[in-house]
Amino acid sequence: MSSFAFTLRPMDPRDADQVLAVYQAGLDTGQASFETEAPAWEDFDAGRLPAHRHVAAAPDGKVLGWIAVSAVSTRPVYAGVVEHSLYIHPDARGHGIGTALLQALIASTEAAGIWTIQSGVFPDNTASLALHHKAGFRTVGTRERIARHHGRWRDVILLERRSDHPHTV
Ligand SMILES: CC(C)(COP(=O)(O)OP(=O)(O)OC[C@H]1O[C@@H](n2cnc3c(N)ncnc32)[C@H](O)[C@@H]1OP(=O)(O)O)[C@@H](O)C(=O)NCCC(=O)NCCS
Repeated sequence: MSSFAFTLRPMDPRDADQVLAVYQAGLDTGQASFETEAPAWEDFDAGRLPAHRHVAAAPDGKVLGWIAVSAVSTRPVYAGVVEHSLYIHPDARGHGIGTALLQALIASTEAAGIWTIQSGVFPDNTASLALHHKAGFRTVGTRERIARHHGRWRDVILLERRSDHPHTV
């Protein structure tokens, strides 16, 4: 893996345009999500927990990638269960940025008492599957033909990482 200069910091509303552009580029791969269009910033902002949004930035400030989580349920018993999204700029993939953002998310969620992070990944997204397994996620199972993507029913592999942090066992 070659070196690629970046720093991690909290996402800022001023990152909105770049975050959504990186999001759209990921959706355009056809392997990232059932979504096909990035949302408006207002919808993105409303659906994601403010304390767990991280960006990777180049020395010139350009956003190279981001990670964020949504609550999976409004039920209080599931307050410590979140689902994350991870998107890296097409020019910056394969340089460890996704791994670094995922580690930052694990650290911030563990510090906040969140005990499970989950994600649904298309079986074809081998990069995402490898990255998550290396970070300690396990495969829960395959959700068969769970939804349609461009009209085609597709499977999703459900991954999760259960914390063993002393506060959450
Ligand atoms: C999937 C994605 C997030 C990976 O981020 P990244 O910064 O490129 O990943 P990293 O450089 O941290 O790589 C981590 C591991 O993933 C695996 N990996 C990364 N790119 C890969 C590729 N093209 N093919 C196979 N495995 C790959 C490797 O195991 C790698 O570890 P290694 O370098 O030690 O071998 C990124 O490619 C991306 O944004 N894709 C489009 C959006 C998307 O699919 N998001 C995930 C939705 S679930």
